Order: sequence, then C-alpha cells, then structure tokens
Amino acid sequence: MRHLIDPLDLTLAETERLLSLAEDILARPEAFSHACDGKILATLFYEPSTRTRLSFESAMMRLGGKTLGFASAENSSAAKGESVADTVRMVSGYADIVAMRHFKEGAPLVAAQYSKIPVINAGDGGHQHPTQTLTDLLTIRRRRGDINGVVIGLCGDLKFGRTVHSLIKSLVRYEEVSFVFISPEELRVPGYIIKEVVEPSGHPFREASTMEEVLPELDVLYMTRVQRERFFNEEDYVRLKDSFILTPEKLSLGKKDLAVMHPLPRVNEIAPQVDNDPRALYFEQARNGVFVRMALILALLGLAPEVWKGAKPC
Ligand code: NCD
Repeated sequence: MRHLIDPLDLTLAETERLLSLAEDILARPEAFSHACDGKILATLFYEPSTRTRLSFESAMMRLGGKTLGFASAENSSAAKGESVADTVRMVSGYADIVAMRHFKEGAPLVAAQYSKIPVINAGDGGHQHPTQTLTDLLTIRRRRGDINGVVIGLCGDLKFGRTVHSLIKSLVRYEEVSFVFISPEELRVPGYIIKEVVEPSGHPFREASTMEEVLPELDVLYMTRVQRERFFNEEDYVRLKDSFILTPEKLSLGKKDLAVMHPLPRVNEIAPQVDNDPRALYFEQARNGVFVRMALILALLGLAPEVWKGAKPC
C-alpha cells in the first residue's frame, strides 16, 4: 500500500507517469467514469479549504465513486479530543482512501502509520502540499510541453507557503531548472529547504526583493498569498500582506509566453485586471487539480498499475 505524504514519496518517473495519466483522463474523461464504481473517498479536513476538498470530491465522483467526510475540525470528533490516529483507524473501515488536511505539520504522516487504506496529504500546516504540486507540475507541463529547463520565480510568502515548499522539492529533480525567490526579508524560503533541497541540487537560485527586477527572465511566475493563519501577530501580517501585487503594468515586463500561476485563494496578490491576460493560468491550474487527483486516486487504489511500473513493493 502506498500513501502520498511528501512529494518525494513519488519517484520522478512515477510523478511523470501520474501526470501522463492525468493528461489521458483530461483527453478522454468518459473512459474513466466508472473506474471507481463502489469506492469511497473520505475527506478529513481539519483546516479550511475550497479547491482542494472540492477537487478531491469532484475527482472521486468523476471516477464513479462516492465521498464522505468533514470540512472542519469543529464538525468532527476532534472537537471532543479524538486523536488523528483513532479517527483514521475508524475511517479505514468506512472508506477505501483518505485525503487529509490538518493544521499540524506531520498529522497526515501519523495518520498513514495507523491507516489500513491509502492516505493522501492534502496540506499539513506550513509544511507540504504534494497534490497541489502535482497540479502545478501538470499546469507547467501542459503550457510548456516540458518541465525541464524552466526558469521559475516564486513570489510572496515563501516561509509559510506549503505549496512553495513542495513545488521546490519536486522541481529540483528536473534538469536545468533555475529558481528566483521573491519575498520580503521576513518571508524568505526556510533555511532548511535552501540547505537540504536547493543547494544540493546544484540548480542556480537567487533571491530578489522586487518583481520588476526579475520578471523579464521568467518562464513561470508563481504567486502566493501571505499565510495569515500561520502568523503569530496580526501587525506583522498587515505590514507584509500587500508586499507584492501583480498588476497589468508589471506583467507588461514579462515574456509573451510567461505562465502566471497561483495555487489560490488569492487575496490581493494579483489584480483582477490580470485575469483576462492569456498568461494568467491560475483558473486553468485549479481545474487541472481535478485530473491529477483522479490519476492519484486511481494509482493509490491500485487501478493504474502502469504508474508504479518497476517500483519496489513496500
Ligand atoms: C493553498 C494551501 O492550502 O496551501 N491552497 C490550495 O490548496 N490551493 C494555498 C493557500 O492557502 O494560500
């Protein structure tokens, strides 16, 4: 049985095969519409979500399966003090696969240790968000045809943004990737990610404090929201929240085929006037999330053995 807790739980080859399966589903969704007949996905969300939870549910329904779950900790027995370990042991008898979002880093990993069914990390605190990364990779691949060689600028809250951490972890495995980290001083990429992930990869990276100075060289601009819920005080949030706002004027500095991405929700980071620019990919990116989650559910349920080709049984 496999779980997806960290992007590196998938090898690069498995990641690429999952993306290919997602593209296949996108091209002929009807061929997969009964693939999960009789299967149940449990969505255990202890933290707010719109896209991730709904796209998981949509993915399972589009595969012919059903879903159950809760959308906040207050509506679950967590409010009575139940542990994640106990909840997941019980849910193992109610469903065939679990997607879990939790405000505590590591909670889905704990769940996986007690679960009898595959567990997917749908975001754990400021740590990782591997299915958003699959969504992001699919979006880059569909736009450019290839992820290798990409020059990507990650902008905003690079300290607390789990989508950023997971995307960096996955991207370093591709060839000739260059990173530009654009953030306020206080929200820089955590030191451990630079030291343990970026530097050992040998890929060039640099840090910038304005978008304007780097925009002309980017293939992808990945905007992020300042993660208010991870701040210790409101004053710091208010001071930093509007540090970077992409406007049509700034976008005019970008390449003609720049891909502007954002995991969403956006607050102020991208002016609505940018939405109609053909380079704005964030709503397509959100839609791609359904197809990667369909592919992942199939793979983890053992219904897409081609994804695991050559993998050692674990
Ligand atoms: C992201 C998350 O939850 O980390 N949202 C998402 O899943 N698409 C980004 C965010 O909340 O800023």
